[in-house]
Amino acid sequence: MRYGYFDDGAREYVITRPDTPLPWINYLGNQGFFSLISNTCGGYAFYRDAKLRRITRFRYNNVPHDDGGRCFYICDGDVTWSPAFLPAKTPLDTYRCRHGLGYTVFEGEKQGVKAELTVMVPMGAACELQKLTLTNISDEKKQLTVYGAVEWCLWNAVDDSTNFQRNWNIGEVEIEGSTVYHKTEYRERRDHYAFYSVNAPVAGFDTDRDTFLGRFRGWSDPQAVEQRISYNSKASGWAPIAALRLDVSLAPGESRSFLYRLGYVETPREEKFSAPGVIHKTRAHALLSAYDTVEQYDKALNELKAYWTGLLGRFTVKSSEEKLDRMVNIWNQYQCMVTFNMSRSASYYESGMGRGMGFRDSCQDLLGFVHLIPERARERIIDIASIQFPDGSTYHQYQPLDKRGNADVGSGFNDDPLWLVACTTAYIRETGDFTILDELTPFNNEKGTEAPLLEHLRRSVNYTVTHRGPHGLPLIGRADWNDCLNLNCFSNTPGESFQTCSNFESGKAESVFIAGMFVKYGKEYAELVDRLGLRDEAKTVLAAVEEVETAARTAGWDGEWFRRAYDAFERPIGSKENDEGQIFIEPQGFCVLAGIGGREYGVKALASAQKHLGNDYGLEVLHPCYTAYRDYLGEISSYPPGYKENGSVFCHNNPWVTLAYCTLGDGNGAFDLYTRNAPAYIEDKSDIHRTEPYCYSQTIAGRDAQNYGEAKNSWLTGTAAWSFVAVSQGILGIRPDYDGLRVHPCLPDSMDGFTASRIFRGVRYGITVRRGEKKGLVVDGKPAVGDLVPLSAGPVCTVTVTI
Ligand code: BGC
Ligand code: NOJ
Repeated sequence: MRYGYFDDGAREYVITRPDTPLPWINYLGNQGFFSLISNTCGGYAFYRDAKLRRITRFRYNNVPHDDGGRCFYICDGDVTWSPAFLPAKTPLDTYRCRHGLGYTVFEGEKQGVKAELTVMVPMGAACELQKLTLTNISDEKKQLTVYGAVEWCLWNAVDDSTNFQRNWNIGEVEIEGSTVYHKTEYRERRDHYAFYSVNAPVAGFDTDRDTFLGRFRGWSDPQAVEQRISYNSKASGWAPIAALRLDVSLAPGESRSFLYRLGYVETPREEKFSAPGVIHKTRAHALLSAYDTVEQYDKALNELKAYWTGLLGRFTVKSSEEKLDRMVNIWNQYQCMVTFNMSRSASYYESGMGRGMGFRDSCQDLLGFVHLIPERARERIIDIASIQFPDGSTYHQYQPLDKRGNADVGSGFNDDPLWLVACTTAYIRETGDFTILDELTPFNNEKGTEAPLLEHLRRSVNYTVTHRGPHGLPLIGRADWNDCLNLNCFSNTPGESFQTCSNFESGKAESVFIAGMFVKYGKEYAELVDRLGLRDEAKTVLAAVEEVETAARTAGWDGEWFRRAYDAFERPIGSKENDEGQIFIEPQGFCVLAGIGGREYGVKALASAQKHLGNDYGLEVLHPCYTAYRDYLGEISSYPPGYKENGSVFCHNNPWVTLAYCTLGDGNGAFDLYTRNAPAYIEDKSDIHRTEPYCYSQTIAGRDAQNYGEAKNSWLTGTAAWSFVAVSQGILGIRPDYDGLRVHPCLPDSMDGFTASRIFRGVRYGITVRRGEKKGLVVDGKPAVGDLVPLSAGPVCTVTVTI
């Protein structure tokens, strides 16, 4: 069953009823100011950091799930309704929500009034704009009372939801005409404030939430709205809001637009006040006058649309597979931007208060983003490398505002360092910019420790070389990619972190997955330094790679598949010797794509993965699921069977297997797996899948779960980047390389070819792939060698591949 449809021409997903199984959200903003917005206009806004600069309030775990956000009420006679259905909950005559790229439109109609509400964050400005257009489609005059309201968060989202003894005393606002300024803590150490404003004279306002809502009421039925009045309340402590009331009269056929602006402003410390205690508002006024008219708004929306047209135009495909095209051309790339911006910080499932930016997460997100805006990827690589320690290990996370490593979680996730190699080589292959390697980058953000980025990569590689266990495999540390396989701590205390409790440091537990990573990225590093003329270093690294490869082929091989790990007592994990958790997906994907054991092991490993892990939605993490908690395995066994790391389809690692199929030249295998969980392909199952059909979710419950097929944790997952890599570089086979673009498709029998357009190092490559007798590559009319399209002088280059 579906709840809407894709409109590819407009690059929108159109939701046709408000009662989607879960809130279906969109992200607004590309840099700086960000908003989340659901299909009923819920969500929240923040500036740069979802924990430390939260602008509007959101209650996770609330009932109903999606209450609050942007609250619009249209009062028409006795009826009160909201254009996006919530919060008023009045059934609408018509409802549509169109999620587009960086904007969302709601179209609601009720008893002769049509409302169109378009919400966006304009390029380069720290504000969210909401354009509300009301049209009288009846043949009578309409006298409407219209409210627009937001609830302020007192900036630090953690403090806001915990420290009430203080917070219920500190809320402060200023009111100036049709603008409410939120200035809590501005009197003391904050140099920033927010505002909510409408571009028309208000008939009244409220800034104290409980006055506006009234006792025993919520956002669905505020007392002020019921009475069609405002109390002109001035918040002092408690919960400050901004609720703006307009009186609107509309003749039959008449249409009027109002522009609401939710803005964020930083002031230099010496210019904070215009009079004692009064905000200096020049910057707010400038923002308001930049977006004061419908023309200015429409221009900003057009700019945003043009921006996305430009970005997505960097990689487009046209094939016989409409759904593949839709994912590649629109939604997968869009999600790559969102994950690049957010890492795992802020969604409807990630509270934005905890994890900040993940080291491994951000490195991997970059793989799907680097072709879009390489300059931002470059900056990010330096930020990430700056939280590395001198010994090559890294902090696991950092907070985007201060970019400092998060000491609560610390380091010890032994896959982390190698992801830095992965993203840096991807960046250089995309851009040809070797100068990034010279960039002086500190360790642990400490002044005076700066070393060229290349030195960071070197230490990453050396970290694995020098941290190997009894079988010669890399030591796993607290965990590798699978955060929940915790082999070096034995937690039996409720509530303790499985990852950071340190009560048992075996120094022995090993990871076959990291072995796969090391073979792949160790080779990539060796190739890189070889290109820099550091031949001896390349040789030394390759020798270590060979040792690890051998260890993975012997101690890491179980006969029919790759083992997962060795535990603290040197016992294999992910082996037929185990009673549960006999086979895991991660090493099948990574060891095969790294080429360990060649074709023979590869074919066997993937066949075993299909046989034991395969379900309708992809490959599960492991099989059989753990049925009871085992302290020597950690969090993985804490989940009921079929959920999360204990046997769901953890979508992130499925594309590794897709790529592994491509390594083996198995196009049918690759495509089959790709389509099992690519959102557009499972849109028809939206009632089972439940999360948005236009973006990937982290997990899909496995066969052992009660709700088999139900997805959770949509949006912020490494699945976005890896799926894009798998489909664009694996299946379509368009791969950036140091000396040019490689085109090496791995298509299923059902596809005869495709055309693609790819901007690479400033040149537009027009690529045609087709089946035919005379195999090979033709570049600008001339036959070329192998699969390499040499760098072209541009501006366009025509490539034909016959397969
Ligand atoms: C989740 C993992 C996550 C980890 C660290 C666990 O509870 O299952 O997916 O990586 O927490 O935040
Ligand atoms: C989600 C985390 O963000 C990611 O870093 C990790 O690899 C996966 N969970 C698997 O545990």
